[in-house]
Amino acid sequence: MNKFNELLDQYPKTNIKPDKKHSILPTVLKLLEPLEGKTVVDVGCGEGFFSRAVAERNSDVVYGIDSSNSFIERAIKKDCTKVVYKVLDMFSSELPMCDVINAPFVINYANSLDDLKKLLVNFFNSLNNGGKLVLVVDLPRLDLSEDQIRKNRKFGAVKRVDGGLVDGANIKIELFNNEKYICTLNSNYFALESIERLLSEVGFKSIVRHKPIIDKYGKKVYGEEFWKDYLELYELGYLTAIK
Ligand SMILES: C[S@@+](CC[C@H](N)C(=O)[O-])C[C@H]1O[C@@H](n2cnc3c(N)ncnc32)[C@H](O)[C@@H]1O
Repeated sequence: MNKFNELLDQYPKTNIKPDKKHSILPTVLKLLEPLEGKTVVDVGCGEGFFSRAVAERNSDVVYGIDSSNSFIERAIKKDCTKVVYKVLDMFSSELPMCDVINAPFVINYANSLDDLKKLLVNFFNSLNNGGKLVLVVDLPRLDLSEDQIRKNRKFGAVKRVDGGLVDGANIKIELFNNEKYICTLNSNYFALESIERLLSEVGFKSIVRHKPIIDKYGKKVYGEEFWKDYLELYELGYLTAIK
């Protein structure tokens, strides 16, 4: 679907996109709390953007897992002694046992609802009882005007879906930093309702949707005016679920 090894130099440029740095990261960190003494698995860690941020909190052990050798090598080079990086395929490998799973932007790589259910079973099995799963999912919209799409480009991402909002439909995601094109990724659309149903079938409880936050640094650096409409236009879903 995506040749991540070929995106090794481009993808890390997304780390300073306004939306990723000042909304997605602080929102995810807030949803992962409490981290004190917890073992965390960051699924699809790439070169460790979220893993390092989690390790800086009071977490105990952090595993960063990714199927791309090149990204894991890059993550290890960035060095954070508290993170244990491993090359693992989330669909076919057993994940380390943990208290918290962070899975941002990865469940949309499932090819079908069946595939997605198997992945959620894998997550469920690697969580200790009472453990928490945090999901960030791509939720493209069909109702945005050209002007609203331009605003989303300014925030960092433009998403288009082929064939309507049907489970499994292909999503094209163009990523930008300050309007400068970074790269295009492909993923698959799943309705929040479908994900919630599967989570529940797998055995997860307390399944909750969340709204993103924008951190104070984002408001300081870009100004309040810049973020106007972000909370109406963002094309992401945030879900937490408990085993
Ligand atoms: C959109 S990137 C996100 C990287 C990182 N979480 C971030 O936000 O900076 C998706 C990551 O998922 C990884 N990935 C894709 N399929 C995977 C799989 N089956 N198992 C584990 N990782 C996978 C890719 O190699 C890539 O690093």
